[in-house]
Amino acid sequence: MILGVNIDHVATLRQARLGAEPDPVMAATLAILGGADGITLHLREDRRHVNDRDLDMLRGFVPVELNLEMAATDEMVRIASKKLPDMVTLVPEKRKELTTEGGLDVRANMKTVKKAVRTLRDKGIAVSIFIDPVDSAVEASKEVGADMVEIHTGGYANKKGPGQAKELIRVQNSVKKAAGLGLMANAGHGLNYVNVVDIAALPDLRGLYIGHSIIARAVLVGLERAVREMKALTCRGCP
Ligand code: PXP
Repeated sequence: MILGVNIDHVATLRQARLGAEPDPVMAATLAILGGADGITLHLREDRRHVNDRDLDMLRGFVPVELNLEMAATDEMVRIASKKLPDMVTLVPEKRKELTTEGGLDVRANMKTVKKAVRTLRDKGIAVSIFIDPVDSAVEASKEVGADMVEIHTGGYANKKGPGQAKELIRVQNSVKKAAGLGLMANAGHGLNYVNVVDIAALPDLRGLYIGHSIIARAVLVGLERAVREMKALTCRGCP
């Protein structure tokens, strides 16, 4: 199971003082030392946390999978085509949201998403699409030619008890649906050291993309240890 660590929250802390620290590039180094299989960053249109310099530097040194989350806009496709991350995850983006709120409505943006996927794949970049756990979104992702989907686990993470069990089944069904269509399936959003366990046990899941809970834990125990502890929870067959 791939563990992709999202370092946006380190950049958010840096931007609180508009200074140079903490540096998301240094954070990526520690996350990798802790066992991260990938580093994720979200370059937003408004550059509210991660900026172009971060992408430049991370592309320069990250030896594991570099996953660029971005909107399917011409500007972002141009940047990705130049910087060549290992993979791109297409996400919806709203200026006022605190974090990505829902999956991308692929069907409603078919033409734009298809064009973005084609351009990125022509550059050798693997493309994932962040979608809600519904069959139609998985089918639309297949239709636009994506390599992977990332199933939004926010609904699962926000519930408890039977409601959460129901959401887990929705995620599981979407992962199964994706696998049946020949798409690789990832999951992410709102996962933490408690709720990740049931998600990590789902069959056919390729990877998990986690940010906030790891960085929050890192404030208390250090980033390398926080990643190592998450890796131990999500890893299959690790010592
Ligand atoms: N996956 C996607 C597509 C996201 O937008 C985010 C949030 O940036 C995450 C995963 C990570 O979510 P969290 O920070 O809640 O772990």
